[in-house]
Amino acid sequence: MSNRPFLKGGKTVLRPVEHGDILVIAKWLNDPVVTHTMFYGQLPMSEEQVEAMIMGQVRSPANTVFMVETTSGISIGFAGLYDIHLTARKASFRILIGETDHWKKGFGTEVTEMLTFYGFDRLNLNRISLGVTADNVGAVRAYEKAGFVVEGTLRKDLYRNGRWYDSILMAILREEYDAKLAADFSERFTQKLKTDR
Ligand SMILES: CC(C)(COP(=O)(O)OP(=O)(O)OC[C@H]1O[C@@H](n2cnc3c(N)ncnc32)[C@H](O)[C@@H]1OP(=O)(O)O)[C@@H](O)C(=O)NCCC(=O)NCCS
Repeated sequence: MSNRPFLKGGKTVLRPVEHGDILVIAKWLNDPVVTHTMFYGQLPMSEEQVEAMIMGQVRSPANTVFMVETTSGISIGFAGLYDIHLTARKASFRILIGETDHWKKGFGTEVTEMLTFYGFDRLNLNRISLGVTADNVGAVRAYEKAGFVVEGTLRKDLYRNGRWYDSILMAILREEYDAKLAADFSERFTQKLKTDR
């Protein structure tokens, strides 16, 4: 288990990104299976380029980026809230689970839920949105399970694998979160203090 856990769920832990994580992130970003329906992976990325990009994201006060670990301490991906906007109180969610043997086991859904909780409960956001390639059925399913709804389609948004892909915009609003998810997510993701009943 991470020695710097920041948020904990039943299956995953979110912790800060460290310099020592760059090597494994570079492995994921150069893996054509992982990036199959993403903008990542269209150009090779050296360790140096990955470090500049990821550490640039980490350093920006407009982003909160986390490493995703299993509760047994294996780093399996990274995820975060990006482009946090001060007055509109909105942000974009992004996730990459890079260890493919950990796909379809509920990790993506839980991380989406946990960062949705974090965005509304801790950052007091009003809206969290994301973009996803329409063919990325696993991602769309994970986001729907976590409470996101489809807002629209961007036609021919990505050229990859010799063809065009449409992208879907999805989002969740504070009022939807409060009405349907806040009680459950707070129960699952709020750290209990010893003094709590
Ligand atoms: C997309 C991604 C986040 C999904 O994570 P995950 O841990 O596999 O997701 P979950 O296990 O929580 O799956 C959610 C649901 O989608 C289903 N699913 C996942 N991958 C699927 C796939 N490739 N095909 C069909 N269904 C899939 C799961 O079975 C589950 O459905 P269920 O609960 O009804 O059985 C992960 O595969 C990933 O990071 N891929 C590479 C990068 C990427 O595409 N990021 C998203 C960019 S927008």
